[in-house]
Amino acid sequence: MKLYIDSANLKQIAYIQEYYPIAGVTTNPSILVKENRPYLELLKDIREVIGDDKELFVQVVGEKAEEMVEEARNICNQLSGAVVVKVPVTEEGIKAIKRLTAENIPTLGTTIYTPLQALIAAMAGAKYVAPYVNRIDNLTGSGVKVVSEIATLLSSYQLPTQIIAASFKNVQQVHDVCLSGAQSVTVGTDLIKKFIAFPATTQDVEAFKKEWQSMYGVGALV
Ligand code: G3P
Repeated sequence: MKLYIDSANLKQIAYIQEYYPIAGVTTNPSILVKENRPYLELLKDIREVIGDDKELFVQVVGEKAEEMVEEARNICNQLSGAVVVKVPVTEEGIKAIKRLTAENIPTLGTTIYTPLQALIAAMAGAKYVAPYVNRIDNLTGSGVKVVSEIATLLSSYQLPTQIIAASFKNVQQVHDVCLSGAQSVTVGTDLIKKFIAFPATTQDVEAFKKEWQSMYGVGALV
């Protein structure tokens, strides 16, 4: 399982990167715009924080495959380190994924709502596919079921494409997706912190500390 941060907020990325085992950072146009500063400068700052080895995902916005390919080349020229280009799985997007694969530019097929969208993106050569779990749930579908079916299809056809499940609003969705065959998840920083927050754990730690200090004094360590 790989965990990615779905955010472009530098402060939050630095915090999560320090405390949690993360594989990289995923962005999309909305996430970048939210930070309200020149996007390239921001992406370079994110790269500085996470280092060259961790993957940085940047999404194209062009409508036509030719525009997407141009954007992808531009992103890869401007940014150092491991960069993955996110391409929406429209018809033009699939065409772009095929071309970028031929140029050895790694891609992630994004905005995925159905197993067949993921299968076609994988057949076109996408390194990753990103089903939108919470957005599927909001359409009264089941995001977890879609992830599980994508996992079955990729494994049945022995495709090397990996799933990075995205769009989460609660810990239960992440938990269920982890059990459904997804190799990775990308999650917002607030939700990542909730993965390990549990009142009983805090209480236990506090009780251990009190007993220890009653014997060995305040601030005493092992
Ligand atoms: O990475 C895709 C993801 O950011 C979409 O998530 O929360 O906007 O549905 P959300």
